[in-house]
Amino acid sequence: MAVRIDILTLFPEMFDVFNHSIIGRAKDNDILNVNTFDIRDYTKDKHRKVDDYPYGGGAGMVMAAQPVADCIRKVKEENKGKVIYLGPRGKTFNQEMAKELSLETELIFLCGHYEGIDERIYKHIDMEISLGDFVLTGGEMACIPIVDSILRLVPGVLSSSESFTEESFYNGVLEYPQYTRPAVYEGDPVPEVLVSGHHENVRKWRRGKSLSITREKRPDLFEKLELSKEDMELLKNIEV
Ligand SMILES: C[S@@+](CC[C@H](N)C(=O)[O-])C[C@H]1O[C@@H](n2cnc3c(N)ncnc32)[C@H](O)[C@@H]1O
Repeated sequence: MAVRIDILTLFPEMFDVFNHSIIGRAKDNDILNVNTFDIRDYTKDKHRKVDDYPYGGGAGMVMAAQPVADCIRKVKEENKGKVIYLGPRGKTFNQEMAKELSLETELIFLCGHYEGIDERIYKHIDMEISLGDFVLTGGEMACIPIVDSILRLVPGVLSSSESFTEESFYNGVLEYPQYTRPAVYEGDPVPEVLVSGHHENVRKWRRGKSLSITREKRPDLFEKLELSKEDMELLKNIEV
């Protein structure tokens, strides 16, 4: 059964991005079912308005409760997944959350716009996720990378040659350096171990590099690692 993601937005055309590349291929292969719902189609306003002035005054407009709540109700008739609102007050997204959400078979994402949503919509929301401590113009800008990082973890979306298990963050470390042909580029050779054909040495070199790069670039991640005896040995012998 395909994993189903429904995205509620005022700008469905922005999600054309999911018709391309790896996610597009997985949709064509019926591994993923990604749909958009135009919140404007649910407004009862005769001018198709979906926003209004904030009570109490202040800048900007607020997305009104009625069209958003009615759109959520409609989508929930078919999709029993969590309703996730993309918003700056939410928990900051990371790979751990991507892994957890990739185990769900149905999810609903709600994208805010303008100054955000009427607070009364929160009773329809199960979870709020933020892309980071900055403000975006709309939830779509956060939804695209978040949904992409979740969907690429769904079994069958990546081919075995595109596996994610050695990628940055998957095991709490950053990825090791990668090289491709030619073996020497502008006088700069690839590390000898990588052309040695010695798989165990390649594995150790990569692990050592991952650890030392993580220590240098992301000490916060490095502190959380439980280093094995081999890891400590590799770190002693490797330069970044
Ligand atoms: C201009 S923002 C509203 C910001 C809001 N007035 C505030 O100060 O918190 C419009 C929409 O973008 C989305 N958004 C903005 N920043 C975000 C972030 N860091 N993560 C996820 N979504 C975000 C939310 O859906 C929000 O409703």
